Amino acid sequence: MFHSVQPVFCCWCFHQEKFTMIRAAVAIWILSAVICVGRGHHHDHGNHSHHGGADQDTAQDGGANTFLQVTSANKDFAYRLYRKLAAHADSEGKNIFFSPSSVSVALAALSVGARGETHHQLFRGLGFNDSLLTQTDVDQSFQKLLKKTNDTSQDISEGTAVFVDHKFKAKADFLETLMQSYLADGFSVDFSETTDSANTINKYVEDKTNGKIDKLVEGLDESTVMYLISYIYYKGKWATPFDPHLTREDLFMVDENTKVSVQMMYKQRRFDTYYDRAINTSVLHLPFNSSYSMLLLLPDDMSTLENAISQAHVTKWSKWMTSSTHEVFIPKFSIKTSYKLNGVLKEMGMTDMFGESADLSGISDGNRLSVSEVVHQATLDVDEAGATAAAATGVGIMLLSFRHIPVLKFNRPFMVIITERNTKQILFMGKIINPNI
Ligand SMILES: *[C@@H]1O[C@H](CO)[C@@H](O)[C@H](O)[C@H]1NC(C)=O
Ligand SMILES: *[C@@H]1O[C@H](CO)[C@@H](O)[C@H](O)[C@H]1NC(C)=O
Ligand SMILES: *[C@@H]1O[C@H](CO)[C@@H](O)[C@H](O)[C@H]1NC(C)=O
Ligand SMILES: *[C@@H]1O[C@H](CO)[C@@H](O)[C@H](O)[C@H]1NC(C)=O
Repeated sequence: MFHSVQPVFCCWCFHQEKFTMIRAAVAIWILSAVICVGRGHHHDHGNHSHHGGADQDTAQDGGANTFLQVTSANKDFAYRLYRKLAAHADSEGKNIFFSPSSVSVALAALSVGARGETHHQLFRGLGFNDSLLTQTDVDQSFQKLLKKTNDTSQDISEGTAVFVDHKFKAKADFLETLMQSYLADGFSVDFSETTDSANTINKYVEDKTNGKIDKLVEGLDESTVMYLISYIYYKGKWATPFDPHLTREDLFMVDENTKVSVQMMYKQRRFDTYYDRAINTSVLHLPFNSSYSMLLLLPDDMSTLENAISQAHVTKWSKWMTSSTHEVFIPKFSIKTSYKLNGVLKEMGMTDMFGESADLSGISDGNRLSVSEVVHQATLDVDEAGATAAAATGVGIMLLSFRHIPVLKFNRPFMVIITERNTKQILFMGKIINPNI
């Protein structure tokens, strides 16, 4: 078999039948690897066991230690969220693409206003241990991350925003923390104008993602009082581009029975690759012309890879990759995904924030609030020159007391049936056109 020798991407063209397990999902890891890993940013072997508590550390030490805990939790969250999304997408044969970074930032910003069990669930769901990390530790770490991301290169921008209803009184320290630590842009909107305010939010996201995500918010709940946004945009050029003249039409094996036609890019040169025998997966490293990278993972069996993948794998691959000459074929593609994450986040233990027992009392005094929706959209375009990826997460927050109670008003002609419940016998049946006659 081809993989008993070497990681060989070049075999694709000659042994396509061997790749019937490849699914479009092959590209998934790209951005999470790119954003979360970045070459030369591996902090995983940092000292995690410092006294067992951040409070005891010195200022500089404690900062570094808690930052490592937060970034390590974020990476772990990425793989857990992926597996949840994959479990849902599997039956539907859908692509998966999302920004773990954007989801983490949005939920961490929400946790600033959460209290009690709601806060505990958010922390645990995000992978933060609340006996080791305080909300302030988390806030400071995200501030550092967001500043770093925006500073390190021109290729990437990441940030947050909060849209607040003009009549809603949010706590000053909540908004202050969002602005300070999550570098949030703040806006006042009139959420009673549901269409206008949705358009305002969508316009903002469209702007920040350079038009890639133009309709994050579909319809807003009437009782929305606040909307949190996080966005991320990445556009990178390959360190060595593909030659468009070598791009050819070729087949992509969606599954055993389905082949689709794609534009296949081609390049022969030295590449960093690794073949992971434990999970029969070939790993290709495609560096951008910056500190960012794309990792492409080609497994014999997708579910083996999906169940196994972790940060430890990515770290191992990055460490053991070797450079040698390969022929590489990668399809050009543009994909777009859209998720409502309520169900997935509940499965990850973050249940209370969505219901009657939500405690978001850190956002406002005297108003009972809950999360109406967490939505996420992402796009990925790969071509000869490079890759562009964008994502945004939206968290809708609504008043529980204003919760929409469905109304049924029989103020126009209606039908009536009187029936016996066990026998289903219809005793009476009629139509009321005018109750006054
Ligand atoms: C949180 O940290 C404490 C102290 O190190 C540890 O005992 C506990 O097991 C951790 N909890 C989780 C869920 O990892
Ligand atoms: C990051 O940079 C982009 C582009 O320069 C800018 O639009 C955005 O506001 C910045 N975000 C933050 C959080 O500073
Ligand atoms: C990897 O492939 C080999 C050879 O086809 C097979 O024997 C082995 O069971 C595979 N391992 C896994 C984890 O699928
Ligand atoms: C990569 O970046 C360097 C410096 O920023 C630039 O000189 C070079 O032309 C770039 N290469 C490509 C392929 O864009």
